[in-house]
Amino acid sequence: MSQGFVTGIYIIAGLLFIMALAGLSTQKTARRGNIYGIIGMAIALIATIFGPNEGGLSFILIAMAIGAVIGLVIALKVEITQMPQLIALLHSFVGLSAVLVGFNSYFGYQALAPVEKAAMAQGMVTVHLVEVFIGSFIGAVTLTGSIVAFGKLQGLFSSKPLVLPYKNKLNLLAIIVSSVLLAVFLQQGGVFWPLLLMTIIALLCGWHLVASIGGADMPVVISMLNSYSGWAAAAAGFMLDNDLLIITGALVGSSGAILSYIMCKAMNRSFISVIAGGFGTDGSSASEDAGDMGEHKEISAEDVAEKLKDAESVIITPGYGMAVAQAQYTVAEIVRKLKKNGTKVRFGIHPVAGRLPGHMNVLLAEAKVPYDIVLEMDEINDDFGDTDVVLVIGANDTVNPAALEDPHSPIAGMPVLEVWKARQVIIFKRSMRTGYAGVQNPLFFKDNAWMLFGDAKKSVESIDKAL
Ligand code: TAP
Repeated sequence: MSQGFVTGIYIIAGLLFIMALAGLSTQKTARRGNIYGIIGMAIALIATIFGPNEGGLSFILIAMAIGAVIGLVIALKVEITQMPQLIALLHSFVGLSAVLVGFNSYFGYQALAPVEKAAMAQGMVTVHLVEVFIGSFIGAVTLTGSIVAFGKLQGLFSSKPLVLPYKNKLNLLAIIVSSVLLAVFLQQGGVFWPLLLMTIIALLCGWHLVASIGGADMPVVISMLNSYSGWAAAAAGFMLDNDLLIITGALVGSSGAILSYIMCKAMNRSFISVIAGGFGTDGSSASEDAGDMGEHKEISAEDVAEKLKDAESVIITPGYGMAVAQAQYTVAEIVRKLKKNGTKVRFGIHPVAGRLPGHMNVLLAEAKVPYDIVLEMDEINDDFGDTDVVLVIGANDTVNPAALEDPHSPIAGMPVLEVWKARQVIIFKRSMRTGYAGVQNPLFFKDNAWMLFGDAKKSVESIDKAL
């Protein structure tokens, strides 16, 4: 394949990636968007592997075959609820690649013969060294940041924020020292030690940035790391002189940043404070103490069915527990029965319900719930006051009134589904344990609230039977 042909394919692949992103912006076109992305990636890979600049074809093919087998096994095994940690782990690979490409490109330059080095313009050498340095920095931050995110989401590390003394100053110091190291690196014509020292600092910085972020802000962290991994890939593209990698990296980097911004707005968080590792938050830790909140009441599935039969309007607010229990199919069945009975039934979806953006929408679409009764939080929040029964199925943080009522709560200020305004609220859970953010929920102790304990799937099946 000639270079011109490869460049042409890269342009087509770049266009397909843009069409993929556009397709992914609505549920109806998401499947098509995925297909564009797959075709773009396939032709880009073929052009890169068989292009004029590549050698070691057999090594590449063996590595790809091993990677494809591991990828397939993981993809078949992973539950949709484990998707965020998988994504975090994959981001860490992008970070690692950027660091390896950085080091490889550094040593590649060092290995050039003096005549070859002398033939390069001084400006080009400087640009190359800056690319290596910045690429390795972004890659290292992404690598350890993503590993910590994976650990937190997988429950290997505590989801509480790490609060080191002077944590913001530590981050600032890491950036200042790295900038000084860059100056030394350039001034000394690319000696190795500043690059190595900066990489160690960046690895620690990535770890610290994500460890400092509390559980409630993790969704934003995932999309932010997505953005970092894009920039890391773009930096690798500069080092490898690969235009498509630059384009793709920039697309991932900017779309991740836009998604992080949208999620911050949805959760009423400051974008800067989240990307700067919980900057400006006091890291106040969650209270699991429910001692002074009063008594909760329990209810049976049969009694819930009675309440549903009598209700004229019902809103269902699902959360992570519905996904774990895989209760969506029976929930959809209950909805069909209630609608047949003339009841007005709708779903209220919080922007961060579950463990990844759009998680609930995907589950409900899977269970063939019509799109027009699945409403976003802003569309439905004013309607709870006129609702007879709300079913909170495996949701907790997203319906926590403390977000609005307790300024010291770790989720203070985050918009929530105001379910407590309804006449009756039923909460499906297995215990009185807290949700992801580790905060106790005063909703459970309200006069109009009843707990239906047990696995959500079993509970909805019993209700379905009683109906
Ligand atoms: P959570 O606050 O995590 O609450 C889920 C509840 O489901 C838990 O209290 C749990 O209580 C219950 N549950 C778990 N398994 C269950 C089962 N089999 N049957 C019945 N109940 C079950 O969920 P949420 O309201 O959806 O809020 C999402 C949280 O995750 C937010 O804090 C959000 O910031 C965070 N987060 C979101 C994302 C994105 S992007 N959506 C990504 C990462 C983190 P029991 O243990 O008592 O059953």
